[in-house]
Amino acid sequence: MANSKYEYVKREFEFHRHLPASNWIVVRIDGCHFHRFSELHAFEKPNDDRALRLMNACATSMLEKFPDIVIAYGVSDEYSFVFREKTEFYKRRESKNISLCVSYFTIVYGMKWKDFFPNNDLKEPPYFDGRVVCYPNINTIRDYLAWRQVDCHINNQYNTCFWALVKSGKTEKEAHQALKGTSSKDKNKLLLQQFQVNYNDEPAMFRKGSTVYRDKVKTDDCGNPIKRTREAITVSNFDLIGPEFWENHQYILGEASDYLCLGGKEKYGYEYVKKFDNIHRLPYSNWTIVRISACQFDQFSLIHSFDKPNDETALRLMNACASLMMEQFPDIIFGYGFDNEYRYDLPLENSCVCMEKTTKKTDKNKICVSAWHNFASFHQ
Ligand code: GTP
Ligand code: MG
Repeated sequence: MANSKYEYVKREFEFHRHLPASNWIVVRIDGCHFHRFSELHAFEKPNDDRALRLMNACATSMLEKFPDIVIAYGVSDEYSFVFREKTEFYKRRESKNISLCVSYFTIVYGMKWKDFFPNNDLKEPPYFDGRVVCYPNINTIRDYLAWRQVDCHINNQYNTCFWALVKSGKTEKEAHQALKGTSSKDKNKLLLQQFQVNYNDEPAMFRKGSTVYRDKVKTDDCGNPIKRTREAITVSNFDLIGPEFWENHQYILGEASDYLCLGGKEKYGYEYVKKFDNIHRLPYSNWTIVRISACQFDQFSLIHSFDKPNDETALRLMNACASLMMEQFPDIIFGYGFDNEYRYDLPLENSCVCMEKTTKKTDKNKICVSAWHNFASFHQ
C-alpha cells in the first residue's frame, strides 16, 4: 500500500481480532432468507434432496480447498466447519476465517447450482452469513456437533409431521395446532398411525444431517484394493451423538479422544454450548467500513486471461457488483474501489466501502459477512 498521509486510518483504526490459540475453531454459515429462497426455487418440502446434496457438494469443496478443516456438519441451509485445534490459517484472524469460508462456499453454491437443479435457473443470488466460535477441547467440540444434530432431529421430526398434515388437507395453522405440546414419541405415533410412515425409515440425510470428513480408505478410485491407505473426502449421515463414529474415526479430532461426559443437564445443552458464542457488536454512533479484497487474484486473473495491467471488463464487473450491493443493502451510502498497482499486475485489491449508521444491535459478523459473501455471489 502506498505510504501516504492518509495511512493513519489503517494504522490507528484497523484492528485484527486473532482467535485464541489451542482452540478448535468453528465457522458456521447459514443461508440468508432461505425460507424465501427455497420457495422461489420450488424446493420440495420439508426436505429437498437436491438442495441438501448441493450443500454437501459445497462442503466437500471446502475441505478440498482448506486442508485445516477436519470435519464439517450440515443440515438445512447451514454448515459448520471445524478447523483443527492448532491451525495457523491466516494467523487465526477472525475476519479472514469467516469471510473466506462464507465467500468460497457461496461462490461454489452458485457454480454447482446447475449440477443439482439443471432445469431451474437461479432467480436471485444465494447468500450466506457466518459466525465463528472457539471451543477449548474435544468435549466441547463434540458437544457442539451433537447440539447441531439434536437440533436437526427436533426440526426434521416436526417438519415431517407438519408437512404430512398439510399435504393431507390441514391448513398450516391447523397443523401447528395439532403438533403443539407433542413429544417426540407422540410425533412418531402420529406419523405411523395417520400416515403409515415409520420415522426411522426416512432418509438418514434428513434425520441425521450430513458429515463431511477425510476417510481413510484402502481402495483406489475404481474400488480396487491398495496397500497403503489413502484419504478420501467422504459425506456420511452418521450419528455424532453416541461414541461409535468417534471411536471409529479417532484421527479426526486427534488421538486423545477420551470423551468425558459433562454430566447433568448441560450435556448437549443449548445454554452450555451457547456460552462460547461471543458476538461482537459494533460500537454505537460510528461509521462502519467494510473493505473486501480478492484472494489469490493474480492466479485468478491469469487463468481468466485478464488484460494487463488493467482489464476494463474486470473493473466494470467489480463496479457492477458494488452497485448491486448498494441496491441490496440500503444502509450502504458510499462505495469506492481501486486496483492495487503496487502488489499485483491486475485489479487485485478492490475495495468496497460501506458506511452504516450502526445501532446497538449491529452484529459485526453479520454485516461484514453479508457484504463479503454478497459481493462474491454478485461477482459470479
Ligand atoms: P435467516 O437465516 O435468518 O436469514 O432466515 P432463513 O429464512 O434462512 O431461515 P432459517 O435459516 O431459520 O431456516 C432455514 C429455512 O430454509 C427453512 O425454514 C426452510 O424454509 C428453508 N429450507 C432449507 N432447506 C430446505 C429444504 O430442503 N426444503 C425446503 N422446502 N426448504 C428448505
Ligand atoms: Mg437461514
